Amino acid sequence: MSQRKVKAAVIGVGLIGEQHAEAYHEYPRSELVYVMDLDSKRAWAVGERFGCRYTTDIEEVAASEVDVVSVATPDFAHFQPTMRMIEAGKHVVVEKPLATSVREARQMAEAARRRGVKMTVNLGLRWSPGFLTVRDSIRSGEIGEPIMAHVRLADTIWVPRKMLSWAGKSGPQWFLFAHTMDLLRWFLGQEAQEVYAVGTKRVLAAEGINAYDAIQALVRFERTFVTFETAWILPEAWPDIVESEMTIYGSRGRLHFDAKRQGFELSSDEFGKHMFARPALWKRFKLPSTWWGALRSMVDCVLDGGEPAIPAEDGLAVTAMIEAVERSIQEDRPISPRSLIEGSASS
Ligand SMILES: NC(=O)c1ccc[n+]([C@@H]2O[C@H](COP(=O)([O-])OP(=O)(O)OC[C@H]3O[C@@H](n4cnc5c(N)ncnc54)[C@H](O)[C@@H]3O)[C@@H](O)[C@H]2O)c1
Repeated sequence: MSQRKVKAAVIGVGLIGEQHAEAYHEYPRSELVYVMDLDSKRAWAVGERFGCRYTTDIEEVAASEVDVVSVATPDFAHFQPTMRMIEAGKHVVVEKPLATSVREARQMAEAARRRGVKMTVNLGLRWSPGFLTVRDSIRSGEIGEPIMAHVRLADTIWVPRKMLSWAGKSGPQWFLFAHTMDLLRWFLGQEAQEVYAVGTKRVLAAEGINAYDAIQALVRFERTFVTFETAWILPEAWPDIVESEMTIYGSRGRLHFDAKRQGFELSSDEFGKHMFARPALWKRFKLPSTWWGALRSMVDCVLDGGEPAIPAEDGLAVTAMIEAVERSIQEDRPISPRSLIEGSASS
C-alpha cells in the first residue's frame, strides 16, 4: 500500500464544501492543500481553519500540484469548475447531482474519459449502514424479486427559504431525487425505462422562489416500478430537517426504512453523531464519517489504482432520470431517460 498522501483541493467551500475539506484533512491517506471559493471570506475562513492555501482564482488550483479536486459549488454550477479541473488533469469528485442537464453531465463524463482522469459523484447515502443493509438484503434475495417501491425524501421549507441562497436555481428534484433515484437504481441494479411526473409551483413561488413545492414521479425500471416523492415545503415544525421513508415490496417479502423519530434529541460533542437535527443546528451539523465514502474511494484508487466506487456514468444516469422528471411535468407525458442521453449526443 502506497505511503504517499493524495493532495486534495476543494472548490466551493460553503456548507458541504467545508466538510469535504475536513474529510480530506482527517483521512490519513490524503492532505488538504488548497481551497477555492468565489467568496473571499469563505475561502479565507476555511483555509485558516485547516491551515491550507486558499484562493478565489480557479487557475491557481489548476496550476497547482493537487491530484484530486472536489467540486462543491451550487447544483447549477458544477459544470465549469469540473471541466476546468479535468482539462488541468485533476481527478474530480463532484457533489450530487453530477449536473443539472444531461448535456452537461455527458460532456463531463466524456471529457474525464478522454483526459484519462477519474471522476465520481459524492453520494454518501451509499455508505450509510442502513441503506447498505437494504441493498444487501435485496441483492441476496431476502425479499425475492423486487416488484414495487415507494420512496419519499423531503426537506422542511427552511431549506429553500433560508439554507440555500440558490434554491430558485435548483429544486427538490435536483437536491433530493439525486439521492433517492441513485439509491433505488443501485439497489435494484436496473435502469429506468420511463418516467412520468407531476409537480406544483405554488407555495415557494408565492415567496419569490422559483422551485417546485412537491413532485411525484412514477419510474418504470426494467422489472420494478417505483414512486418517488419529494417536497420542499415540510413545515419548519417538523422535528428533523428531512423526512425520509422507503418501502420495497418483493415477491417474497417487504422492506421498510423510516428515518422518522419523535421528540428532539441532541447527543453529540460536535453535533455529528446524530442524524437528527433541527434547522437551527444544521449550520453546525457534521455529517457522519460514512458520508465521505466517495472521497475516500477516490483517494484510495488514485493511490492504489482501479476506479472509484461510484462511476461518473451513474451520475449521468441519475441526471437523465431527473431531467426526464422535469420534461414529463412540462410536457405531461412519459419520458425515457435513455432517449435524453442518446439525444444529447447530437445537441
Ligand atoms: N451530499 C449531500 O448530501 C449534500 C448535502 C447538501 C448539499 N449538497 C450539494 O453540495 C453542493 C453545495 O451545496 P451547499 O449547501 O454547500 O451550498 P452553499 O451555498 O453553502 O456553498 C456553495 C459555495 O460555492 C461557492 N461558489 C459558487 N459558485 C462558485 C464557483 N463558480 N467557483 C467557486 N466557488 C463557487 C459559493 O460562494 C459558496 O461558498 C450542491 O450541489 C448541493 O446539492 C450535497
